[in-house]
Amino acid sequence: METKLPDVSVNINEKSAFDYPIFIGENLLKNAQLYVSSYTKASKFLIVTNKTVANLYRESLNIQNAEWMVLEDGEQYKNFDTYKLIMDKALEMRLERKDAFIAFGGGVVGDITGFCAATYLRGIDFIQIPTTLLAQVDSSVGGKVAINTQFGKNLVGAFYQPKLVLADTSTLCTLDKRQFKTGLAEVVKYAFIEKTAMCNFNFLNFLLDNSELIKSKDLGILKEMIKICCEIKARVVNEDEQEKGLRAILNFGHTYAHAIEKVTNYTHFTHGEAVAIGMRLVFDLAKMRNMISSDYYNLAIKLLSKFALTYVLPDSTTHEALVEAMLFDKKVQDNKVRFVLPVDVGKVVITSDVML
Ligand SMILES: NC(=O)c1ccc[n+]([C@@H]2O[C@H](COP(=O)([O-])OP(=O)(O)OC[C@H]3O[C@@H](n4cnc5c(N)ncnc54)[C@H](O)[C@@H]3O)[C@@H](O)[C@H]2O)c1
Ligand SMILES: [Zn+2]
Repeated sequence: METKLPDVSVNINEKSAFDYPIFIGENLLKNAQLYVSSYTKASKFLIVTNKTVANLYRESLNIQNAEWMVLEDGEQYKNFDTYKLIMDKALEMRLERKDAFIAFGGGVVGDITGFCAATYLRGIDFIQIPTTLLAQVDSSVGGKVAINTQFGKNLVGAFYQPKLVLADTSTLCTLDKRQFKTGLAEVVKYAFIEKTAMCNFNFLNFLLDNSELIKSKDLGILKEMIKICCEIKARVVNEDEQEKGLRAILNFGHTYAHAIEKVTNYTHFTHGEAVAIGMRLVFDLAKMRNMISSDYYNLAIKLLSKFALTYVLPDSTTHEALVEAMLFDKKVQDNKVRFVLPVDVGKVVITSDVML
């Protein structure tokens, strides 16, 4: 049996060696061995996952010559201690240059495993098998890998592309409502930044028209939706792998979101919830500056509401605290905070001239 053609291909154009497929669909886990053998020459694998995913899916993922490393579940474990545990395990099992890591889980597992792969023996292959909506539409694509430090999130990392991404949509059935919505916030983000040339149709309308099917996790529509998100992200990353320009549009809503997460100690909101608030705030800002029509503003609010991506900041979160947090973000250059603002459906501009 041969693998079918990939659903999306990412090639990072300056380095033609980076050309990897993304497969999206139901029940891919059971054929994972086939995909893995087709896209790596590895003879041994270290599969990194967490307790939650292992409990649900360990039996479904059968890869020969693999050892498992099961982490505790949580963002707080994306740190140096876990990095060391994984490295020690890889060294103990004598994983070699031609072998590979497999990240099996959400964005936390993907980010830390990717960073291990980037640095183990100065870099060995890795495969992403994302199991959250956020990981399938965002973190598994684009090659940013990292761990958190006591000074902030994702401060130690690399740009390192996987050899293969296998997004099994069936795994989303067990994702709880809150985590699913967190992923949807990033999906909606693509509708606001999508360039029409990238898709044959308007992604924003696609989401509005199919909102009920999406919310009920219809696997056919989820596959289509995830594919469009990956296509948009892949094209943006392809033009700007290391975030020198265009890639910044993927941060739509994120300038506020990162500040909101920081000010609320990363405990009050999930990342997607903070992004949803961030997107609402940039739409308010663009409206205040007369940058968008009221029709587009209303459409954006309608889309956020359709997916119940409407959250309120706690009273204790002041404007001053948010501004301070934004000024300390790692993306700040020359004390200027960069915002991605909407101008029209699927069109944004990047600007630093916002009065805070
Ligand atoms: N590298 C990038 O470009 C990028 C982009 C966005 C976010 N991120 C990172 O991704 C991380 C967030 O990712 P996330 O939202 O996937 O969080 P996560 O990995 O913590 O997963 C969320 C929760 O869902 C559980 N889970 C995973 N798959 C499941 C399944 N199929 N069924 C039931 N439960 C399941 C996890 O155990 C966890 O409790 C953050 O660390 C963030 O920094 C990275
Ligand atoms: Zn995000």
